Amino acid sequence: MFASEVYVSRRKKLKEILKGGILLFPGNGEMAYNYKGNTYAFRQDSSFLYFFGVDQPGLTGVIDVDQGKDYIFGNDLDLDDIIWTGPQPSVARKSLTAGILHTGTLAELEHYISSAIKQSRKVLYLPPYRAETLLLLEGLLGIQHTSVSNNASVELIKAIAALRSVKEPVEIEEIEKMADVAYEMHTAVMKNAKPGLREKFLTGLVEGIASSYGYGISFPVILSIHGETLHNHHHGNILKEGDLLITDAGAESERYYASDITRTIPVSGKFSARQRDIYQIVLNANMEVIRNARPGVPYRDMHFLASRTIASGLKDLGLMKGSVDDAVAEGAHALFMPHGLGHMLGLDVHDMENLGEDYIGYNEEFKRSGQFGTAYLRLAKPLEPGYVLTDEPGIYFIPELINLWKKEKKFESFIDYVKTESYIGFGGVRIEDDLLITSVGCRVLGKPIPKTIDEIESMMHRG
Ligand code: GLY
Ligand code: MN
Ligand code: MN
Repeated sequence: MFASEVYVSRRKKLKEILKGGILLFPGNGEMAYNYKGNTYAFRQDSSFLYFFGVDQPGLTGVIDVDQGKDYIFGNDLDLDDIIWTGPQPSVARKSLTAGILHTGTLAELEHYISSAIKQSRKVLYLPPYRAETLLLLEGLLGIQHTSVSNNASVELIKAIAALRSVKEPVEIEEIEKMADVAYEMHTAVMKNAKPGLREKFLTGLVEGIASSYGYGISFPVILSIHGETLHNHHHGNILKEGDLLITDAGAESERYYASDITRTIPVSGKFSARQRDIYQIVLNANMEVIRNARPGVPYRDMHFLASRTIASGLKDLGLMKGSVDDAVAEGAHALFMPHGLGHMLGLDVHDMENLGEDYIGYNEEFKRSGQFGTAYLRLAKPLEPGYVLTDEPGIYFIPELINLWKKEKKFESFIDYVKTESYIGFGGVRIEDDLLITSVGCRVLGKPIPKTIDEIESMMHRG
């Protein structure tokens, strides 16, 4: 946990924005893996962590804005529990570490909320993403589970999004520490990848590095010679000469802050001429964004900047043709980059995605596009100092998509399908960095991980 003042100050800011009501924050419980007593690693809810910090299952936080009081409700362990878990500090003791003076049992929580409802007081909560939380809210609020998500408070979502989007110095430090761990993860892949090795071995290596530092991974590792599948969690292949290997992996700190970094490397240690060409286009797109991202610039503009860089590079190689601006405006480049440029990063790898992407990356002025490719952009609105986000352009050769578009004669004036088809089997290239928006521009977080062709080849050089 951070110092208690961090949580006190965050709750104070939330109270100042919301002005009234009772804010209800169910923390997460244990989740059964294959039976109740065998659970997944516990992961506290991120908004609970942000305002209450206590990393323990079975707690609910309450901020009573009207009365200016903050609470944590939860049951202390009984003797049966202690026999299995050992003694634990009481809920009251743990709550103090977040500056919370008022605590109660879960029965007292039920009473607190039901009397508030009887008095017609407003109870605000976030949309649940776990069935257990949905059922807890159904019981506490006395409404059908089918109505729980619809009645979540947009006012609360927007207030929390505003606070969590601008990272405090202590949060930036945590994310940067995890970017440094990602340096170790990615350079280990560069040093070890070679023909004949299994993807599973490298995946284990990457996960093991995070856990050897006492950290977790911020999402299941993506590591594949089939980088054309964007989130490829299948690690069953054996690396061979001529393959490109994508590794998209990050670490999660003890306080649950994430890094999220991607590198693409040639298994043989040297990029082929074809791989160099495509790799350099993606690198140019990634670097153009780093050069141009700054406060006030809509990230949608950065998405289009990266898209134009990609379309222009592919035009030079003869895969695309015609006007680059028109091709990007009409969405033809999405054949090669069918995803958004990036997303917010923080306590969640796609930060606050559970609150609803459109409240996080969009606003009244910036509405989500319906166009294939651009529609998947998770962050479009103007950047502000303190935002932490990813810059992750890519070029992929997805056989099913190429075949479909060709059959449909889609964007024939912008795409040379004969040339494009000759790249089927190439795989994909993605390069992802974590950026902090500063007062004047942006800074790439963490120790620089080899990224240029020369840097990667020299890190992979085995003498
Ligand atoms: N690691 C998932 C992503 O880059 O969005
Ligand atoms: Mn990633
Ligand atoms: Mn990402």
